[in-house]
Amino acid sequence: MKGSCLDIIFDRRSIARFKTDAVPQDVLDKVLAAALRTPAPGGALTGGYRGSQPLSIIVVRDGERRAQLNEMLCEGRRECIETAPVSLVFCVDTHRMNRWAKLLGGAPHFKGAGVLWVSLRAVYTAAQTAVIAAESLGLGSQFIQEIVWQPYSTLSFFQLPPQVLPVAMLVVGYPQERPSLAPSLPLASVVHDEVYRDPPDDELVASFDEKEEYFQEWLASLPADSPLRARIEANGIENLAQYVSLLTYTDSFYKWRDDVVRSNVVLSELE
Ligand SMILES: Cc1cc2nc3c(=O)[nH]c(=O)nc-3n(C[C@H](O)[C@H](O)[C@H](O)COP(=O)(O)O)c2cc1C
Repeated sequence: MKGSCLDIIFDRRSIARFKTDAVPQDVLDKVLAAALRTPAPGGALTGGYRGSQPLSIIVVRDGERRAQLNEMLCEGRRECIETAPVSLVFCVDTHRMNRWAKLLGGAPHFKGAGVLWVSLRAVYTAAQTAVIAAESLGLGSQFIQEIVWQPYSTLSFFQLPPQVLPVAMLVVGYPQERPSLAPSLPLASVVHDEVYRDPPDDELVASFDEKEEYFQEWLASLPADSPLRARIEANGIENLAQYVSLLTYTDSFYKWRDDVVRSNVVLSELE
């Protein structure tokens, strides 16, 4: 186990390159059990009931299935899904709770926007606990956002019953290399004292200075013949704000993904 919890949090970074070494089952079990210790919605202090825990975690270890996942979600672009020995797929799951309620004479009515909203919170925080637990055990991880953009295939790939929807995916393994620490926004630009303070323009821009510097360093490190560098230059991209909003997360990027996310919710019968 590594240092204190705070040391682990401040030293954590997303890992892009993993060793292929297996994660022993007892180590993985600790990560998974830690995730289940996360706060979850539903009366912790009333009725002696520790939250509904509306989540499931699908462990994907099989190499062929990880390769299929990489193909299905990312058109084979995410090497780490194949090299890292484990992928954890975190799902909203009210199916279990509905079955349980129905079997014992309760009401299986756990669905709809409110239930989904609160369940998402439970699932994302559990995934984050897994991230920290993994780090504490010498492992590294990376979230793969594509899991939420490709629902149709994941429903059959994981043989999901109704009311189970994958919403986060974490690849876990031993780091091959640890990238430099990405800068966070300064505390003062995120934390508000009692009421929200909208800063003046120059202060808002300055709050991204460290991220801008990090971006410019990364840009300078791209090889002269890199296709990405060519794309950045062809589009006249000069700074991080332009890169993020004009080249990466564009309007059209979100447009079809919004539609996919909406259909997902319907398809999984969570709405
Ligand atoms: C919801 C979510 C989805 C993410 N998806 C991806 C992803 O698809 N690919 C990736 O490389 N990183 C992904 N990340 C990781 C972020 O890129 C990373 O956390 C961020 O750049 C900060 O770097 P750090 O984690 O090293 O501090 C995701 C993180 C979150 C919270």
